[in-house]
Amino acid sequence: MTEDLRLRALEALIAARARTETLTDCVDDHELTAQHSPLMSPLVWDLAHIGNQEEQWLLRTVGGRAALRPEIDSVYDAFEHPRAARPSLPLLAPAEARGYASDVRGRVLDILDTTALEGDPLVDAAFAFGMIAQHEQQHDETMLITHQLRGGPAALTAPEPPGDGDRDLPADVLVPGGPFTMGTSAEPWALDNERPAHQRTLAAFRIDTTPVTCGAYLAFIEDGGYRDPRWWAPEGFEQLTQHAITAPLFWRREGGQWLRRRFGVTEPVPADEPVLHVSWYEADAYARWAGRRLPTEAEWEKAARHDPAADRSRRFPWGDADPTPVHANLGQRHLRPAAAGSYPDGESAYGVRQLIGDVWEWTSSDFLPYPGFVAFPYREYSEVFFGPAHKVLRGGSFGVGTVAVRGTFRNWDLPVRRQIFAGFRTARDAAPQEVPPRGGAA
Ligand code: AVJ
Ligand code: FE
Repeated sequence: MTEDLRLRALEALIAARARTETLTDCVDDHELTAQHSPLMSPLVWDLAHIGNQEEQWLLRTVGGRAALRPEIDSVYDAFEHPRAARPSLPLLAPAEARGYASDVRGRVLDILDTTALEGDPLVDAAFAFGMIAQHEQQHDETMLITHQLRGGPAALTAPEPPGDGDRDLPADVLVPGGPFTMGTSAEPWALDNERPAHQRTLAAFRIDTTPVTCGAYLAFIEDGGYRDPRWWAPEGFEQLTQHAITAPLFWRREGGQWLRRRFGVTEPVPADEPVLHVSWYEADAYARWAGRRLPTEAEWEKAARHDPAADRSRRFPWGDADPTPVHANLGQRHLRPAAAGSYPDGESAYGVRQLIGDVWEWTSSDFLPYPGFVAFPYREYSEVFFGPAHKVLRGGSFGVGTVAVRGTFRNWDLPVRRQIFAGFRTARDAAPQEVPPRGGAA
């Protein structure tokens, strides 16, 4: 078991680095050091920050080795410097940043080889190695967002996602009321905010079988949805007015046609693809317009993980096996979501699709600790973000690596954010006549 995890950690670290290299080798030094948006760091900051986190946790803390570059810690401390201020820091130049990250990695592979993976919560089950692989994959998604925001011609390419969506799916399914297990105490690399496992009891609800598509979202736009304050939280309507927002980020209307820019290419908005680059406010407003609401985080997780036949929660919608390319669109294999209704092998026990991969899904919930939460191994991963300012996103996008997504994984962001690879699905309370009698066969 532990030796399996040692091998998994090695594979996860290697996979993350391969993606980091793709994202940073496909542009020149000028593009690496430029700030493409005040919302993002220069790519070269992410690159050295990845190496610096790995140095701090794996080389110094786990490995007990002397610091390689203690003088740069503060430059790459995300809390000391907001993203907008990072271009003016004394950053390592691209060649130095690459050399530093690979120097750290070389030593870390030696530490991974020789460390006993037990006796301390940081190394039990190779946790710190898994955490650092997840950290790198999270920054790989952050860097992919930077690529999406950058102007100029495409630097990245990828094959089209498979499948054209199952048109015979019901629009939504019933998830009966009752208890289920939320969160995890067993998943070896679950981060602190996913712990511990605990019981939640929910009322019956209905949830969409797929994320909301661009085509469905367009009907909201064409119905004047962006001009009608009835659908919007007041702060959301305020954001529209202040920034003249009339459609998802990266969309524009030209000659009666809706176009979008995606990684340097402008193309027609695809009607059957899950909508991307909407804020929580836009998702919330669409749901209200549609006579529905966003699912709560607990509803999302029950629809994704609960197996009513066995009355247990799975690691993933399809079961306990790690994702493969037939289950979900993950890991930047494709640079767009697959058509809604794709990935039948990734379906949950309730018949819900594309919960993992494709688009992060906004939920109605604030980012809060579970009962019994303990910050680990550092308060700045989750704890400092708990509270009503951040909304929870679930499921992961096409941009996130497999090690950094699972049925319990929690992401969060401000409700105004639109550059992230986020969409949503809708839900509603079940009507009384839809709820089967308790204990009886329906
Ligand atoms: C969990 C995606 C919100 O990018 O701010 C990266 C992940 N934390 N480095 C973020 C993270 C520290 C985090 N999110
Ligand atoms: Fe980070």
